[in-house]
Amino acid sequence: MTLDDAVVARHTVKAFEPGQTLPQDKIETLLNVLQNSPSSVNSQPWHFVVAATAQGREAIAKSTIGAFVYNEPKVLNASHVIALCIRSDIDDKHLQNILAQEQKDGRFVAEGAQAGQDKSRRSYVDMHRYEQRDLPQWMEKQVYLALGGLLLGAAMLGIDATPMEGFDQRALDLSLGLREKGLTSVVLVSLGVRSDKDFNAALPKSRLPRDEIFTFI
Ligand SMILES: Cc1cc2nc3c(=O)[nH]c(=O)nc-3n(C[C@H](O)[C@H](O)[C@H](O)COP(=O)(O)O)c2cc1C
Repeated sequence: MTLDDAVVARHTVKAFEPGQTLPQDKIETLLNVLQNSPSSVNSQPWHFVVAATAQGREAIAKSTIGAFVYNEPKVLNASHVIALCIRSDIDDKHLQNILAQEQKDGRFVAEGAQAGQDKSRRSYVDMHRYEQRDLPQWMEKQVYLALGGLLLGAAMLGIDATPMEGFDQRALDLSLGLREKGLTSVVLVSLGVRSDKDFNAALPKSRLPRDEIFTFI
């Protein structure tokens, strides 16, 4: 599948065929996409809960309630559902953990590189914590980059996907025990095989024209 074909072919799947399991190698590729997603100052302020069993999908479906019940079948009938989460804070422990990983991965060749990276990352975190006071929103931006990669990656692999903000975030956090782990949910993605009831597959894509969204200077 070419990139041009993938971006046109991909669409938000509205109904999945129940009982279909995606091949594990494709899932591994998508986990690779998430793990290698870029983030500001390599902050990686995320965690991904992957539901690959009926029990896992049911735990996630505890959040597709009330106004969001229309998304319940998209969770229950998918092969895998991924809950993309942010950390509740970028604390010292997390900053030290990233720095230690970068050291282990051989990132610090030049003298002073490690201290420089640590200082630079902390200055960004402090700016978002104290000046812009938007640390959670900043973390969410990084998670949405991962979301974009995941959706494009799924399209390239010919995997059907549904991104969902339509869920009760508190219910999901409680169902998955996220808050005790210092996490909170942001967005869900169901992955699977679309069914005949996926009305969106037959509809044409709709996007604003290029002359409205691009300016060439
Ligand atoms: C962040 C995000 C959240 C979304 N939430 C939902 C949702 O809860 N339920 C749903 O059916 N579609 C959801 N969508 C799908 C959008 O409506 C869809 O991407 C948009 O209409 C463009 O259509 P396409 O994805 O088929 O190209 C969401 C999409 C994004 C990117």
